[in-house]
Amino acid sequence: MTDFSTIYKLSLVALWCFIHACSSSSSSSSSSCPLLECWFVQEKVGRGGGLAGATTQEKTLLHIRKDEHDDGAASSQAPSDINPDRIYVITDPAETLCHGSFNPPRGSIKKPQCEVNPFLPQPSSLAWVRSLTENAFSPVYLQADWFSASFHGVDDQRGVATITRAPSGTKEHSVILSLTSTTMTAQARLGQPVTLDCSFWADPLSPLSETGFAVEWRYQFRGDGRLVLAYDGKTDRLADTLEEGATLDFEALHERGNASLILQETKVQHSGTYICSVFLPYLLAQVAMELEVVEPPSLSIHPSPLPLAVPGQVLNIQCEASGFVPLPVDLSWEFRGADGKSRALGSGSMSGHRQAWDGTYSQS
Ligand SMILES: *[C@@H]1O[C@H](CO)[C@@H](O)[C@H](O)[C@H]1NC(C)=O
Repeated sequence: MTDFSTIYKLSLVALWCFIHACSSSSSSSSSSCPLLECWFVQEKVGRGGGLAGATTQEKTLLHIRKDEHDDGAASSQAPSDINPDRIYVITDPAETLCHGSFNPPRGSIKKPQCEVNPFLPQPSSLAWVRSLTENAFSPVYLQADWFSASFHGVDDQRGVATITRAPSGTKEHSVILSLTSTTMTAQARLGQPVTLDCSFWADPLSPLSETGFAVEWRYQFRGDGRLVLAYDGKTDRLADTLEEGATLDFEALHERGNASLILQETKVQHSGTYICSVFLPYLLAQVAMELEVVEPPSLSIHPSPLPLAVPGQVLNIQCEASGFVPLPVDLSWEFRGADGKSRALGSGSMSGHRQAWDGTYSQS
């Protein structure tokens, strides 16, 4: 009897191994491109004009694949709460959406975030984009279903925006333009250079990728916005802006679509949201990222050196933290006796903060 149950257990283990090996090999051989659950968001239609800005939100499922022959993800079951009309196949030859950050291990709590919107291709009237649509050439190609979508990876640093096209009425989309950033939340020290990453890929088979491209970087902070940099890649012209020390690597831009913004010397005023926009004729994809300037305080104690004191005498000692961003800062005192033991003394009485000419703070 004991022998029997051991054999039985062993065969269970073997069966488990077999299933396990099977499922892991099938998922790796099919592809590492994900099946993404997203929100499909569009403006409400009908009801005669009605409320501007009202939107509807539906769950949607995107089967991402590298090419037409790859149908690995498409064979899996769709969750029952998704309308079959909102299930799409997206062919992504550049595999920007096949990065591990969009395909966490099954059962992970963190999921990639994404949103899909209908997109209307249209010429841009911006000075640095206008040259792309000077001679309207391929309106027939534009007559299709277009989506724009944005994706946020589970590592918090990777973001992708895509413009996809499907022949009218079909649900098989192809990525025509994609934009990737690997610095969705960047930090920089004062005075140091910082690079905000933004690279694009345009389908070389699309007639829209023949003419050229344009790149724009905008800055936004608490409702205040400005143009940082704008470049017309077709005429190789940089727009005049007031921004100093902001540049692109033009060689990397033309060779590899690397449109990263390089700020040569970080200042306090650089904290905020940066929007990287890449234009093809009639198309636009955008990724927004956050830059936070972080500088630790310099500390000084007054009076210095500490004076000799007699028992019962009151001594005021001040600690000043200066040159830091952002607010707030925590200050606390610690007393170390002659025996080497430490004792926390709390934060004392804190002054208000002052801001210096360079935007950094000080507080005592
Ligand atoms: C793009 O260029 C920047 C600056 O030259 C570099 O730091 C970054 O790694 C490049 N990105 C890619 C994806 O090659």
